[in-house]
Amino acid sequence: MQQRRPLMAGNWKMYKTADEAAQTAQQLVERVAGVTGVDIMIAPTYTALVPVFEVIQNSPVALGAQNLFWEDDGAYTGEISAPMLKSVGCQYGIIGHSERRQYFGETDETVNKKIQAALQVGLKPVFCVGETEEERASEQTLSVLDKQVKKGLEGLVSDQLDTLIIAYEPVWAIGTGKTATDDQAQEVHQFIRSLVEKNFGTALSNSIRILYGGSVKPDNVAGLMSMPDIDGALVGGASLDAESFSKIIKY
Ligand code: 13P
Repeated sequence: MQQRRPLMAGNWKMYKTADEAAQTAQQLVERVAGVTGVDIMIAPTYTALVPVFEVIQNSPVALGAQNLFWEDDGAYTGEISAPMLKSVGCQYGIIGHSERRQYFGETDETVNKKIQAALQVGLKPVFCVGETEEERASEQTLSVLDKQVKKGLEGLVSDQLDTLIIAYEPVWAIGTGKTATDDQAQEVHQFIRSLVEKNFGTALSNSIRILYGGSVKPDNVAGLMSMPDIDGALVGGASLDAESFSKIIKY
């Protein structure tokens, strides 16, 4: 089995002004200087992308967007396209985060279009999936994930998915302090990898990175990262502070 390079990604959600974001990014750059063997990404708000990029461009920290629209341009007031994100230095795009599904009407179909748009311009999609508390309680976790993965990647073939990253974020663990246990997370990651194998073949299932997200903190990251199918973390709250995010990166 090949070695997968870990990715530690910070989703800053709707926090920080442009100045605050640039300042945190600067503090992060100082703390991760010399770190090797791990990819690092931060996804600030759209308004902070340019100032953050200026700070991180010659560092190991890469830039990501929290969302994107699937058309390249057009009369779509308020939306931002994949080529636009690419043009300000983004390498990654988070797609289908549960907060977007929950509050902004994101569906498996729109997620699919956004993944295609990202791939088209060479943005690495960080494709988010995960079950709600009720779905877990009624033992639908695996069937929900099966549907999200299948529909999110519909129409794509393995050759197109080299750069795809999947993030498993159980909705009940986001911002709640309730992390999935290492074993609970591993079970689902293994299942997601098996879905990738079934739909896209062994080569992709061996190489694809599957991140865990949901209350990842400096004190629980090492346990999660010790699991064979967990290849990194998508971190919300604990990524807003450079010191705690750098501890996660250096797990
Ligand atoms: P928290 O780390 O704050 O639980 O957020 C997780 C998340 O939603 C990252 O995308």
